[in-house]
This record gives sequence, structure tokens and C-alpha cells, in this order.
Amino acid sequence: MKKKVLVTREVFDETISYLAQHFDVTSNQANVDYSRAQMIERLQGMDGALIATSDRADEDLLTRCPSLKAICSVSVGFNHIDLDACTRHGVMATNTPGVLTDSVADMAICLTLATVRRITEGERMVRARQWQGTHLKQLLGHDLHHATVGICGLGRIGQTIARRLRGFEVKLLYTDLVRADAQIEQSLGATYVAKDDLLRQADIVILILPYTPQTHHYIAAAELAKMKPSSVLINIARGSIVDDTALAQALKARQIWAAGLDVYEDEPKVNPALFELDNVVLSPHIASATEPTRQAMAMLAAQNCVAAFTTGNPPNLLNPEVRRKT
Ligand code: DGY
Repeated sequence: MKKKVLVTREVFDETISYLAQHFDVTSNQANVDYSRAQMIERLQGMDGALIATSDRADEDLLTRCPSLKAICSVSVGFNHIDLDACTRHGVMATNTPGVLTDSVADMAICLTLATVRRITEGERMVRARQWQGTHLKQLLGHDLHHATVGICGLGRIGQTIARRLRGFEVKLLYTDLVRADAQIEQSLGATYVAKDDLLRQADIVILILPYTPQTHHYIAAAELAKMKPSSVLINIARGSIVDDTALAQALKARQIWAAGLDVYEDEPKVNPALFELDNVVLSPHIASATEPTRQAMAMLAAQNCVAAFTTGNPPNLLNPEVRRKT
């Protein structure tokens, strides 16, 4: 008998066809927002699940869904999965690294340019039919070219952003929990500095760190106070890396000049204080949302799921210790 797999969010037809070759598949193609109770109910009797970042796979869920053996997230980030709990319950957890790197790096540049050049503010003015014609001091922005840019997190995506930025001839600083190899620093033209120095020096700060207990509110009131009044903050990592309330206050008080956010502390809710501000660009967690990239992410998650039940060795296993349990 085929194993049973639940796909918790709408995916592409190709993903379903591939999964259906191996599993009895139930997919939420109507993209209904399952409540926690509905999710747990639908997971009863399932061997595997393809989940999204909005689905929390924690101790409680795993206890209440004892048939689960594989949880495959359609995302590179995995802070919504309790890996220790997965291991305790003998559940393999996987993610989708690599396939979204370029698209997320493109979005970092896109959001940075949209923010420093006030694109959405200008668009709002045009759509409101308030534009009276161009003039010399209208919507003056900042330049990305030749700016000092500080990247927080020089992992796979951070390095790709750094390569994109070379075209803008920026001065590139970075900080991270672990310093990169000299050869990587050299090839990217990136200088390692301590976090506080980066915050003090950078015109543009780009956050692309994983969310962990150590990076919770990595940017809060104290950090914002160190940044230049002319500086810009870009977050394409995870919402809770930034204290949204402190950020809204800093933007309102012009303690920093602007921010571009793709992620939020309590997604899909957005801190209402941000809606009051013109100096913040808000996008709805779409850094990886291009057709080919989302296709590749869904297919990689499906391949991880198939491998979990065939070879027992999914390529992107996050908790290899689980093998000792099974
Ligand atoms: C990821 O893959 O972690 C992204 O944030 C989801 O789009």
C-alpha cells in the first residue's frame, strides 16, 4: 500500500504528479488556511507532509500526529520546525536550500533599490493622482552605488547578495557569528567587522541571518540607536530578527531614514504602526516568489519526501541524528 502524504498548501500540478507516483496524496489545492485543529485532524494517518513556513511543526503537533515520519518544508528557513522534537518522535525534517538563493539575492537588491529610491511612495502619489509634475527636490532618495553596505549573515544567500552588489561598486562590510574564509572575503571584496561597527558605519544594513534564539531581536532599540540617521535597514530574513515596534518608533522619529521589509514578526499580521509611515517599503514575504524558483522549491521538497521513504536518506535532512532513532 502507498504511504500517505498531506500537502498543506497549494503547490504546482507537476509537484502533485511527481508525488502521486509514490504516494497517496492529499493536497490543499484550494489553499485553505487550516486552523491548528484542522491541520492536526488532516494529518491523522499521514506518513509524510509537505509544509510551508506558516505551519508550525512542534512537540504538540508531533505528539498528536504519531503516524508522521517525514516533514518536508517548502522553504530554506526552518525555524517553524522543532528539530529536537522531530528527532525525539523519529520524524525526518527537510528544507530546500540552494534553489532559491539567486531569487532571494535579487529581491534583496530590489527591496534595497525600492527603499532608497522611494519607489512605492512615488507610486502611491501617482495612483492618488497627486503628482503635479517633476521638480528638482521631489522624492529625493539615496544612492546604492558607492554606498557602504553592511550584510548581516554571509551564508549562501549573503554571499550571492555581495556578488550582486559588486556591480554597484559599494564598500562592502559584513558581520556574522563566524567569520568567513579569507578567500571568500577576498573574492567578494567584503570586510569583516563587529556588529556594532557595521551598524555605525553602514549606509544600508541588509539582514539575511537565520532566525534562532540568538538572533531574536538582533535589531532592537539599542541597535537602531547605533545606526546613522541617514541609514536604511533591509530585512529579507525572518520578521522576529527585528523588533518591529522599536523599528516603527525609529522610523517615525527619523532615527534611521527608511526600511524595506519582506518579513514580519507575526506574519501575516503587520505591526499597524508601520502602515502609518511613508519611509518603509512593505512586501509580503515574496523574496523567493518567482515561478521557476517556487517550482524548484516545491519539487525539491517532494524529492526529499520521496527519498525519506525510499532510500531513507533525503538530500536535505536537517536532523541526521534521527537515523539513530529509526
Ligand atoms: C524560505 O524559503 O525560508 C523563504 O522565506 C520562504 O519563502
